[in-house]
Amino acid sequence: MADHLLHRLYRLQQAHRHISPRLMAEVARESGLPVSQVAAVVSFYSFFYQQPVGCYHVLFSNCTSCGYQAGGVNLLALLCQQLSITPGQTRVDGMVSVDETSCIGMCDHGPSMLVNGMPVVNLDEDSIRQLCGLIAAQQSLDDWPAAWFRINNHIRKPGLLLQEPPLSGGALKKALAGDARLMLETIVQSGLRGRGGAGFATGKKWLLCREAEGDTHYVVCNADEGEPGTFKDRVLLQCHADTLFEGMTLCAYGIGAQKGFLYLRGEYRYLLGHLQATLAQRYHSGLLGASILGQAGFSFDIEIVVGAGAYICGEESALIESLEGKPGIPRIRPPFPVTQGYLGRPTVVNNVETFIAAAYIVKHGSEGFRAVGTENSAGSKILSVSGDCRMPGIYEYSYGVSIQQVLDDSGATHVQAVQIGGPAGSLVAKKDFNRRIGFEDVSTGGSFLIFDGSRDLLLINRNFARFFAHESCGFCTPCRVGTRLLENSVRKIADGRATRRDINEIRQLSQLVRQYSHCGLGHTAANHILDSLQHFPDVFAEKMQQEMFTSAFDLDAALETARQLTQ
Ligand SMILES: Cc1cc2nc3c(=O)[nH]c(=O)nc-3n(C[C@H](O)[C@H](O)[C@H](O)COP(=O)(O)O)c2cc1C
Ligand code: SF4
Repeated sequence: MADHLLHRLYRLQQAHRHISPRLMAEVARESGLPVSQVAAVVSFYSFFYQQPVGCYHVLFSNCTSCGYQAGGVNLLALLCQQLSITPGQTRVDGMVSVDETSCIGMCDHGPSMLVNGMPVVNLDEDSIRQLCGLIAAQQSLDDWPAAWFRINNHIRKPGLLLQEPPLSGGALKKALAGDARLMLETIVQSGLRGRGGAGFATGKKWLLCREAEGDTHYVVCNADEGEPGTFKDRVLLQCHADTLFEGMTLCAYGIGAQKGFLYLRGEYRYLLGHLQATLAQRYHSGLLGASILGQAGFSFDIEIVVGAGAYICGEESALIESLEGKPGIPRIRPPFPVTQGYLGRPTVVNNVETFIAAAYIVKHGSEGFRAVGTENSAGSKILSVSGDCRMPGIYEYSYGVSIQQVLDDSGATHVQAVQIGGPAGSLVAKKDFNRRIGFEDVSTGGSFLIFDGSRDLLLINRNFARFFAHESCGFCTPCRVGTRLLENSVRKIADGRATRRDINEIRQLSQLVRQYSHCGLGHTAANHILDSLQHFPDVFAEKMQQEMFTSAFDLDAALETARQLTQ
């Protein structure tokens, strides 16, 4: 969208390195919005700043998978030391700022960062030292080594969808030759379920939306991919954008929509040019716009909206809020988007992979799709495999593949656990590696994080707990406060300061956060802790050095500064 609020704010952020109250007032006046709404948006999204960031703004990914460790060196610490800067601060000369950010979706590329929004990958000690030199010399990013910006697709095992050449209208022609309802029936019969995590039946969703009251319907593609360890949508957007847009157009035909949005996570902004070029090609070929493929009355436009660093915007109702130019706070559901979504109109929201699978089904028929996979999980699943393995990357399997098979294929050895479905998913221990990927067993949106025996699982828990505390949108108390308390408690355990009572408390707190939170983030934020307690009780027992209670909050240390000031 030429002037979506997020885009306008992004441009101001680029030009001024922050968004001041004066700029917010200007934006509000020009766009006819209350200043309070613009201010709320600026303060909600991580990539907008109210204080200036540096000319070189560095955001290190703190994902457990890519992390910032290489060869035993803490690269973040090295970077900060070389640049004479503290994380979270802008250097006094305004030249550089460094901070951490949640997973940027480059887990198959080793330690990675964003510099002025551009992913820089495969970092090691040498590249960090070189990069600091380039910043000191004030070299433009255009002159930095091209290899640092080279993002590979790492498609290790293509299957049903990844092998398919671009459809470029092939499925649309087939659909338009018949009735829209017939096409929806094909999707229903295929057994396709959403690939974004929740697994709702796609055909049913499209039918519900078609039948929902109102003339104006919308299609939204969820390309927010923020679950740490997930990067398969990045690869699909890079290699299968044409088929994705075909899937969205088929959905529009099925539900009677004229407008669609691709909501792209801010971390993938670098893909924008490629996506826009693919859209332009489809407009040029008569596959988008007015009277698609010459069919009078069937018009459909797709617009790309780029997010600004908020994991919660992957939740579909938060995403819709964000599309509407608001902070991404999840809505109270019901009503669900299929009846009241974007601007209160019936809206289908689907994951990138779901639209691509739908296009495949329309092109090839439901039977071929159903023939692959299992009874309850038809078709294939694309996994983002990373962590402790020789060949991190993208693997497409028929549903029903065992965890052990994925480990063998990716060259993983001495594995103690796999985190499937990201921090919100399930931690699977070695004794369960015969379990299978599928909705009836281990369900996943795509993340497959491998941890070998050298890993301290409590440090992983600490990282995940910090992720949820950071990404909680703050709307409801059980999640806002609960995720923070969980983070404190996990840190206390990892530091060896916990007692048995702390373990009992963390269990209770986990259940409270799970039960009383408003949306899926809170419902799943404690999964990793409960799984670890269940499968790895010894890891916790080993850390309990003492039986006496000590507080998770160190009051004495917190008061030290004040004490010194008053001495
Ligand atoms: C906290 C949270 C984050 C989510 N992030 C994503 C995401 O990045 N991509 C996605 O497709 N679905 C995500 N979802 C699921 C969406 O809410 C929604 O179910 C999905 O986009 C529907 O598409 P599907 O049926 O094709 O899976 C998330 C859900 C929650 C609760
Ligand atoms: S559960 Fe967490 S993320 Fe969801 S609405 Fe509540 S505070 Fe926000």
